Amino acid sequence: MNISRWPNLPHTQPAKKMAMGFWVWGHPCSLTLTVISLNQSIKCSIRPASCILQECGGAHLMIQFPKDFLWGAATSAHQVEGNNVNNDWWEWEKRVGLKETSGLACRHYELYKYDFDLAKSLNHNAHRLSIEWSRVEPKENSFSQQEIEHYIDVILALKARGLEPVVTLHHFTNPLWFIKTGGWQNKNAYDYFLRYVSKIVEALADKVNYWVTINEPMVYVYYGFILGLWPPQEKSFLKGMRVKENLAIAHTKAYRLIHSIYKKRNLPPAHVSIAQNVQAFTPCNSALKNRFAAYLRNRIFNFEFIVRLIRSKSLDFIGINYYTRGLVDVDGWAFRHMAHDTCKKNHLPLKKNSLGWDIYPQGIYNLLIRFKKYNLPIFILENGICIEDDNIRWNFIYEHLNNVHRAMQEGSKVLGYIYWSLIDNYEWDKGYGHRFGLIEVDYSNFGRIVRESAKKLSSVCKTGILE
Ligand code: BGC
Repeated sequence: MNISRWPNLPHTQPAKKMAMGFWVWGHPCSLTLTVISLNQSIKCSIRPASCILQECGGAHLMIQFPKDFLWGAATSAHQVEGNNVNNDWWEWEKRVGLKETSGLACRHYELYKYDFDLAKSLNHNAHRLSIEWSRVEPKENSFSQQEIEHYIDVILALKARGLEPVVTLHHFTNPLWFIKTGGWQNKNAYDYFLRYVSKIVEALADKVNYWVTINEPMVYVYYGFILGLWPPQEKSFLKGMRVKENLAIAHTKAYRLIHSIYKKRNLPPAHVSIAQNVQAFTPCNSALKNRFAAYLRNRIFNFEFIVRLIRSKSLDFIGINYYTRGLVDVDGWAFRHMAHDTCKKNHLPLKKNSLGWDIYPQGIYNLLIRFKKYNLPIFILENGICIEDDNIRWNFIYEHLNNVHRAMQEGSKVLGYIYWSLIDNYEWDKGYGHRFGLIEVDYSNFGRIVRESAKKLSSVCKTGILE
């Protein structure tokens, strides 16, 4: 690959002399380097560490992760289980006439043991999943013991395979009865949430060490209440801010509740956080308005919620979901421009996933370094790509891990890396076309086919060595 196709790389360095008499051009973490020795020219079209280590006989740069690093993949209930008939997404998919509705999804509700066998065979030692609130509490204050038993079985199945469960309590979907009470706009929403959290945590406390209360609160607010693209399609900034406030309150109360349950039961303290979607906001050019908008978005979208929870002492680790950069090019100084405008030109082109999101691995490094100052462990709870070409998936994983490792070398305390997703699944309003899975799902018969990228990642999970 030609390095000139990866423009504006912040870490691009001029030709630099390496220990063994090699000259190296290019970005130390980009896909390709050209390495030319002083008396002969060798072109290595693979990545820096393995290039120098294996093909060019140069300095030994081993990319090794810690022994206790958590490796795994994630799913969320509505996207994989199938037949989640009592939540707001199920109702909305039908009401607005989405072309592809969740339906049977991946039938993971029945096939979870099979999927966990595959995760184990891929050397994962952790797995992130979500509990579907609307299954456990299909009617207000009426809990289904059968569904609670189901989730106990799911967690036991993970543990039996040596997979550390990372359990999310809210991943975008809500019970229909909860929506009728005003959903997250209701200032007492936390009361309903806590009742459910208490049921689940009482049932699973002795089996679960990692809890994620809420997945991507800012995405929920932005898509559901500001852009108005997802249920409840509100398009109101004020409502969005109210929901954000109520989610923060709900998290902090749930955090305290979870810890109190563990304490009461004499269990070692759980690790509790949220999963925060973070983007590498990048101004398109040096115009002051673009730099200011990128700064603002970084603060508001990436950091504000997390910082608030740190201040209220309700985060044991920082959970982040990272996929892409956001190119910022604003038409004016008004808040709507500052908050929303994105680049419409194609002047800083990068490879993209099938949804058109830029592939920008150095963004994860930049963000990890920025999170360092909070002095909390960081858990990468989602990182992934939807793409037809599985070679690109492996490149994506490789480059992101490379950047995670680089940040760790510089003091970032990363606990683990969870890929999104274990299996192809229902990508919300986009349907089934965008395939994020390490494992392909054949929707005609619900068969699972392990992708090559999954096998490559499995060797990293086994040895901790990225090569
Ligand atoms: C969400 C997932 C989603 C993934 C890819 C994350 O923001 O947590 O539910 O499928 O991104 O879009």
